[in-house]
Amino acid sequence: MSEQTTVPVKLGDRSYDILIGSGLIDRAGQEIAARTGARRVAIVSDENVAALHLQHLTDSLKAGGIESTPILVTPGEKSKGFATLETVTNAILSARLERGDIVIAFGGGVIGDLAGFAASIARRGMGFVQIPTSLLAQVDSSVGGKTGINTAHGKNLVGAFYQPQLVLADTDVLDTLSPREFRAGYAEVAKYGLIDRPDFFAWLEKNWQGIFDGGPERIQAIAVSCQSKADVVARDERETGDRALLNLGHTFGHALETATHYDSARLVHGEGVAIGMVLAHQFSVKMNLASDDDAKRVEAHLRHVGLPVSIGDIPGELPPADKLMDYIAQDKKVARGALTFILTRGIGQSFIARDVPPSAVLSFLQEKHPK
Ligand SMILES: NC(=O)c1ccc[n+]([C@@H]2O[C@H](COP(=O)([O-])OP(=O)(O)OC[C@H]3O[C@@H](n4cnc5c(N)ncnc54)[C@H](O)[C@@H]3O)[C@@H](O)[C@H]2O)c1
Ligand SMILES: [Zn+2]
Repeated sequence: MSEQTTVPVKLGDRSYDILIGSGLIDRAGQEIAARTGARRVAIVSDENVAALHLQHLTDSLKAGGIESTPILVTPGEKSKGFATLETVTNAILSARLERGDIVIAFGGGVIGDLAGFAASIARRGMGFVQIPTSLLAQVDSSVGGKTGINTAHGKNLVGAFYQPQLVLADTDVLDTLSPREFRAGYAEVAKYGLIDRPDFFAWLEKNWQGIFDGGPERIQAIAVSCQSKADVVARDERETGDRALLNLGHTFGHALETATHYDSARLVHGEGVAIGMVLAHQFSVKMNLASDDDAKRVEAHLRHVGLPVSIGDIPGELPPADKLMDYIAQDKKVARGALTFILTRGIGQSFIARDVPPSAVLSFLQEKHPK
């Protein structure tokens, strides 16, 4: 496996490349200048990422002949809202960017979603480049063009499909990510194996340590993840069908995030997804779709890497099962009384089930979360 690899995202005239590898920030200026022709950029980042990596990026851009203006926001999900969107959009306009210049999202998924949406509305659409810095952002949020913010009505309810022109995933920046955030991103990596790549899941069971340690396995795992997501997005950019498979584990996971009030001290997104994927497999067993051995294998691997795997693993009090069920029903995947769930026939055999009876989900939750 080489130190660098390219995954193309094929979307007609909106196609772009994802470059994945070690040392990519060093080459960011050169790559962006060559591929976009930009001479001036705004770098949207959060204070954590900026303190660690902004100088490095700015120097690289300068070496490529690109002048940059940093726009920094407070780290965390709260920055993904109307107030920060206004600040960031105004700052982009103040930076005197012209047509052909670009907005760079330099951070985790919060920054990617926020900066991407700002790029889509400033001057009716600026050039946009993603330089994701969390594992979750490198394997998931920076790919596929979903951008947006949260509102009082819920998460991600205002936004746009807006594809970047380039994604640069420098795998070295992940070394400064906290172990907990790294593990949370790993849940989304495992997700691609569980959706439709059983061989990849088996490979992860053997090679996960190399991914965590920054070995060549890290680049390979990120590349397979991006390729998996790119394939789904190329088939169904606007989520009218297959793209929903990417929500494996997310219906249960979102309910748990709501139940913990998005308190990252208790649960971060990827942890909710890890528990949610285990629950989705166990529920599939209960529905006589999948074997108990497969459900146990998923649980064992995620536990082995240090992720939470059951509702009981979440610290603090949680509302009872019927309340969790209310949160599930409020989730966007409800159609006329029946629930849409991503269920599975086994590892790597997930499918979209559109007629899951709520009563079956409730009795399953009561089993898993007795009060
Ligand atoms: N657009 C999509 O398709 C999509 C998909 C999945 C998730 N998301 C969104 O992504 C967001 C979650 O993303 P996230 O988990 O990256 O959260 P995040 O952006 O909040 O980053 C997590 C934490 O890690 C820090 N961080 C990031 N990179 C770092 C680095 N290299 N070194 C040290 N610290 C670093 C951040 O400052 C933050 O404190 C959510 O808002 C979610 O809705 C979007
Ligand atoms: Zn997710």
